[in-house]
Parts: sequence; structure tokens; C-alpha cells
Amino acid sequence: MKNGLRDVLQAETPEAVYMARRRYLKWLGIATASWSLSACAEQNDAVDIADGTHVSVDSDPFTAEDPLTRFEDATSYNNFYEFGTGKSDPRRYAGQLRTTPWEIEVSGMVEQPHTFSLTELLPVEERVERVYRLRCVEAWSMVIPWIGVPLANVIARCRPTSEARFVSFESLADPNQMPGVRSSALDWPYTEALRMDEAMHPLTLLATGMYRRDLPAQNGAPIRLVVPWKYGFKSIKSIKRIRFTREQPETTWNRMQPSEYGFYANVNPEVDHPRWSQRSERRLAGDGNRAFAPRVPTLPFNGYAAQVADLYRDMDLRTWF
Ligand code: MTE
Repeated sequence: MKNGLRDVLQAETPEAVYMARRRYLKWLGIATASWSLSACAEQNDAVDIADGTHVSVDSDPFTAEDPLTRFEDATSYNNFYEFGTGKSDPRRYAGQLRTTPWEIEVSGMVEQPHTFSLTELLPVEERVERVYRLRCVEAWSMVIPWIGVPLANVIARCRPTSEARFVSFESLADPNQMPGVRSSALDWPYTEALRMDEAMHPLTLLATGMYRRDLPAQNGAPIRLVVPWKYGFKSIKSIKRIRFTREQPETTWNRMQPSEYGFYANVNPEVDHPRWSQRSERRLAGDGNRAFAPRVPTLPFNGYAAQVADLYRDMDLRTWF
């Protein structure tokens, strides 16, 4: 597989940054030759990353086999309106973001509201590596190796009450560190939310790293959501607050343009955006020049239908977009 994880990491990462264990390399060999679930079923290994910690590598069906996006592209073509609306603004300005110390406030329908440190909420031992497709509502996509903790683990630690039906997330909105927040491009803070069953789904991650490094600021350091079957705007960056609610919370894009951005925002090639088709996407991956990225068909639920379609079996996905 050209542009597999190993190629990309070797091309972009100093040799010392990571050292994969032998079984992991063997797994990469298997993935390169031919992908088969049975071949990978027993593989759930650990790799050592830059800071000396281990992450377990989920080589289960959740990990995509598509050629990866180059680190350079994933960190220079971004949406992070707190730093400006241009694709290169986040890389230009996000260096100002202070990410340590970082606390996360948990409130709403929980047994006890609590402010957690990052490692209290996402212990290093629970971190896994997953390769996911990321499909932006603007019809481009990337393939990114994330490091993170399944959101379900984090929710268990927050101890929501049985009445909680939704969970919402708020990004940092500090005009002193984030020049975009001084503009009225969006209603700040950026807010997103999931239904509890979506949040508890094993695919849903809270990421702290990508490409075996800490998350770059422009990608949402130090903690962001990754919900691979939904349009990228649900994957909220630089999270400061988590809140559990009974009612469906308001979310930024849905409140601003309800006819264009739904609350559910499941990737769906059958439902066009009012201003463009969602049938295909520009895949920013591999060696190609970004301007000539190939168009590939968009898949229902971004290719994760087998895992998640059941969550929506009672819903008409044309109206509940
Ligand atoms: N989170 C915040 N706080 N602010 C944003 O502007 N943009 C969203 C999402 N999360 C955004 C955000 C959009 S539209 C997308 S497509 C993804 O982040 C992009 O993630 P990436 O830049 O890491 O590829």
C-alpha cells in the first residue's frame, strides 16, 4: 500500500520519533499485502510514541485501509474559524494557542459536576490509534491516523445520570489567543453535540494526537472530537466544556444555517448541500498535488454504514439530515 502509515511516518517524521514493535510492523505487512479481518483479528498491539508512552493499535475493522493524507496536508489545509476563515489561517495563527495546562469542565446531568485535567479525563493507558476517513461538508476528505480515547470511556468517567440524552461540547473562545474570535464569523464559542448513543458508539474518539505526535494546534490541540461517519464540522476542536442534557442542544452551524447544516450531519451522498452536490469528494491523500486531488464517490455514513446505520433505523435520513 503506497502511503501506508509507515511510508507517511517515515517520510514526515524524524527517525527517532517513534519505534514500532515487531508485531506492529508485521501487521503493517499484512495490511499492505491484503486486507482481511481474520488476518487482523488477533492484532491489538502497542506502539511506542515520541514521549515514551505506549498506545495500543486498534487494527480492527475500525481502521481504514485507504492511503493516508500527508502530514503536511493535514496540518496546512484546515478549518478552524477561531483562527480565521481561510484554509491556511489555522496553521499561520494557531501557534499562539496555549495548550498546557488544559482543564475540561464537565457539567449538566451528571452525578457531580467536575473539572478534569486532560490526563485525568483521557488517561494515557486508554489511548488507541485509529486510521479514519474525515469527510468535510465542503466535499473534500482526508485519511488521518488519530490517537485518542474512545468517547465512551470518557463519558463513563463523567458519570452522567440516566436522564442525560445528549452530550454537547464547547471549544475554547479566547480572543487573546484566537484572532478569529474577534470577528463575528460564527457565534462563539463553537458548540457541537451528539445523541448519547452516537457518543457511546465505539467509533467515536476524543483525539489527543495524530501521526503519533501530539495534536498540532491547527488540528484542535489538545483535545478534539472525531466522529468519522459525520461531516467534519461535528468534530469539534480544542474542547473546554462537556455538558450532558435532556433536550437536544443548539449547535453552531445548525443554528447559523439550519437549511444547510443539520444536527445529525451524517455523511450522505443522497442529500445534496443546497449549494453543491455531496455525491463525490476530493480526496486529499497520497502524493498528489492538492489542486488535482482525485474525485472519489462519497459513501453513505462515510463508509461506516455497517457499524452505525442501525443507530438511525427509525429515521428518514432525508429530513433528519
Ligand atoms: N472546531 C472548531 N472549534 N472550529 C472550527 O472552525 N471546523 C470544523 C471541525 N471542527 C471547526 C472545528 C470543520 S468544518 C472541519 S471539516 C474539521 O474541524 C476540520 O478538521 P481539520 O482541520 O483537522 O481537518
